[in-house]
Amino acid sequence: MIPVNEPLLDGNEYKYLMECIETGWISSEGPFVQEFERGMAKAASRRHGIAVCNGTVALEAAVAALGLQPGDEIIMPTFTIISCAAAIVRRGCVPVLVDSDPVTWNMDVAQIEKKITSRTKAIMVVHIYGLPVDMDPVLRIADAYKLRIIEDAAQMHGQTYKGRPCGSFGDISTFSFYPNKHITTGEGGMIVTDDPALAERCRNLRNLCFKTEQRFVHDELGWNFRMTNLQAALGIAQLERLDAFVKIKRRMGARYARLLSGTPGIQLPLRQKDYAENIYWVYALVLDESVPFDAGEAMKRLSKLGIGTRPFFWPMHEQPVFHKMGLFAGEGHPIAERIARRGFYIPSGLALTDDQIEHSAASVKEILR
Ligand SMILES: Cc1ncc(COP(=O)(O)O)c(C=O)c1O
Repeated sequence: MIPVNEPLLDGNEYKYLMECIETGWISSEGPFVQEFERGMAKAASRRHGIAVCNGTVALEAAVAALGLQPGDEIIMPTFTIISCAAAIVRRGCVPVLVDSDPVTWNMDVAQIEKKITSRTKAIMVVHIYGLPVDMDPVLRIADAYKLRIIEDAAQMHGQTYKGRPCGSFGDISTFSFYPNKHITTGEGGMIVTDDPALAERCRNLRNLCFKTEQRFVHDELGWNFRMTNLQAALGIAQLERLDAFVKIKRRMGARYARLLSGTPGIQLPLRQKDYAENIYWVYALVLDESVPFDAGEAMKRLSKLGIGTRPFFWPMHEQPVFHKMGLFAGEGHPIAERIARRGFYIPSGLALTDDQIEHSAASVKEILR
């Protein structure tokens, strides 16, 4: 079986992990955590980094830190992972959804302004699958309506928009380091921001809101979202190779494109927009309407040929958990609905060999024949 993702851990990961063991620094108090925070902040052109234990809680803390009030509306894409909407709903805020762009699969920025009401307080931008959201219109709208921006850059390590790093936009940005990301810590996340007050608030929220002057007395409820020194050791070793990893992913994308372009029945990821070149977080495919089966069937057929796949995200407006909460009743977002049903991705990890890419592409052609 060719796995859908396999990380590359052949740099200094072992050396730095051994250093944790030898020095006994394995908790979040160890020195690698702050070093990784500084490294990620620098990579994203931000002043502050706050390491946390995954990308989901990074969003949770980021939304909480902004001080949004129950009932405040936050505009976000329907086509994303549930972590984004959950962070909003758990604060009592209201996610307001926009559909996807059919070519990049990112949020359709042309729909944002129509969704603004007197209760709108923020926009949550989520860069999807390898190309960033078109940020200029988002920044213009946020400025005109005085909205905060939360940027979910979970999939965008090393990507830029018009030369500016993803993770540097808006008030606060988040990353994930799950093993399918360009750099991994096993599980892990990071919040980055330029605002010292927001950074301090995130640090408190991540650490149970201990009071500095009286440790076990709390004015507010926080969480234990801390990252361990072991995770940060991996993160530093991975970050050292981020540029090389982006090159590997772009080579993978170019190879797949050469092998698959012109194949009837599938939409391939766009190689570039005028603002960015794809970094192929995953190599995603969407079946045309002419194909007589959906993504579920395609993945089953590929599995029989030994090819690992994953489905696309399922839209937030079609989530039973939100329907039970009375959210999104009767909403329709046709692009997201179509790509959720007809989209999937094929092996795209950093450890993928050229032979595996060729075999995966040949198998895709075979199931479409
Ligand atoms: C866009 C996006 N946001 C948030 C997350 C959540 O990150 P984690 O899996 O580290 O909790 C993911 C995970 O893939 C993601 O793709």
